[in-house]
Amino acid sequence: MSPAGFAAIILAAGSGTRMKSTIPKVLHPVAGRPMIGHLLEVLHPLQPAETVVVIGPHMEAVARFVAPATSVIQDPPLGTGDAVRTGLAALDGRLAPRGAIDNVLILYGDTPLLTTAALAHLLAEQQATPAAVLLAGMRPADPGPYGRLVTGRGDGEVERIVEAADATPAERAIGLCWGGLMLIQGSHAAELVGALDRNNAQREFYLTGIVGLARARGLRCRMVELPVAELIGVNSRAELAAAEAMMQDRLRCAAMAGGATLVAPQTVFFGADTKLGRDVVIEPNVTFGPGVAIGDGALIRSFSHLEGAVVGPGAIVGPFARLRPGAVLETGVHVGNFVEIKEATLGAGAKANHLSYIGDSTVGGGANIGAGTITCNYDGVNKHRTTIGAGAFIGSNTALVAPVTVGDGAIVAAGSVVTRDVPADALTLGRGQQIDKPGRATEIRARLRRNG
Ligand code: UD1
Ligand code: MG
Repeated sequence: MSPAGFAAIILAAGSGTRMKSTIPKVLHPVAGRPMIGHLLEVLHPLQPAETVVVIGPHMEAVARFVAPATSVIQDPPLGTGDAVRTGLAALDGRLAPRGAIDNVLILYGDTPLLTTAALAHLLAEQQATPAAVLLAGMRPADPGPYGRLVTGRGDGEVERIVEAADATPAERAIGLCWGGLMLIQGSHAAELVGALDRNNAQREFYLTGIVGLARARGLRCRMVELPVAELIGVNSRAELAAAEAMMQDRLRCAAMAGGATLVAPQTVFFGADTKLGRDVVIEPNVTFGPGVAIGDGALIRSFSHLEGAVVGPGAIVGPFARLRPGAVLETGVHVGNFVEIKEATLGAGAKANHLSYIGDSTVGGGANIGAGTITCNYDGVNKHRTTIGAGAFIGSNTALVAPVTVGDGAIVAAGSVVTRDVPADALTLGRGQQIDKPGRATEIRARLRRNG
């Protein structure tokens, strides 16, 4: 599929000024995954010889996130052309004709909607008809600030890219834009990028100048048009929201194509890595954060929020349930309204149907957790574990003060505060005694009326 060998350079050093953020632009999430993570994900199946990420100074967080991909620092960032020059330095000696890297794939870190198929298409096109530079073109509804592709004789050849800020009115009227994705032949890359200048409105080294330079040397520059939905760039919060909406639509379609029922698709929000089994039903208004897997036939009811959770086959979650990281519900578990589960495993068939917090716990199969049960897992300094045995019954409004274990089959009476381990099959009552005084209510009311 791919030409003999290619390396990827992802540009991520820009300051992202238009985001007005202290977080580097490429770490802003789309479907719960940093934008640059989407690019690494789609590149992975194509097995680049190397992936180099160009970051700016003080972007250690990006370097940490992309590891084990190589990060190189562009200091100071002087434009996209300068960024590619910095990235190429990390491939020194490995580019064709001396090295095995025939092509360098340039990706912009702010294009999170790219797919593996689009990249594979570009690589295949380059193999079929090699060019010094192969660009991904697109036709956005509003070409706005995108670079315009000035094409020659309609044969797929591109003469140059002109940035919107530098374009004449006639050039601005061109609907064909550059989508921030290109392949440069390894044998030409260093020379062409080295020849870029800063003669433009921003006084930056624009990578886009590479096309004019290649043409001036008599080299071929070609273009393949890709769907705009895969190439949109994110430069502002509004564009981030637009990318999120497009990604969510894609994820909803994939979920339904994979055999899940979404009662109201537009109200369900997925993480990029949400995994759904067959015949999962998701009611309206459900949000999935990162790291969720749902087993076959599970029902996720309205207004539930899940993150870092595994839901077993046939389980029922919600309405209004919150599954936090480390929640594991085995087969057929029921978790009902206003129940929060964190770092806890509920064994097959266990039920916690109303108003509970279960954290740092192990709950055995078939156990019943009554309404209002709280695992008191935090003493203000440390977290402690609660273990509830298989088939145990925890009465309503029980506080389990961890560390504590309730044995298999035990019954804890409603309203108990459990501070010691409960043996298996025991009945435990940990509450104040009830005292009944017959007739006293009438007496008290009479006295109160007299005094009032
Ligand atoms: C760029 C293109 C434009 C194209 C659009 C596609 C240029 C000059 N313009 O515009 O033709 O249509 O993308 O989305 O290339 N970056 C660095 N170092 C720098 C500057 C930027 O690594 O010195 C990185 C940014 O982090 C970003 C990417 O390069 O990931 C693109 O930069 P950005 O400022 O977003 O360029 P656009 O104005 O969107
Ligand atoms: Mg951009």
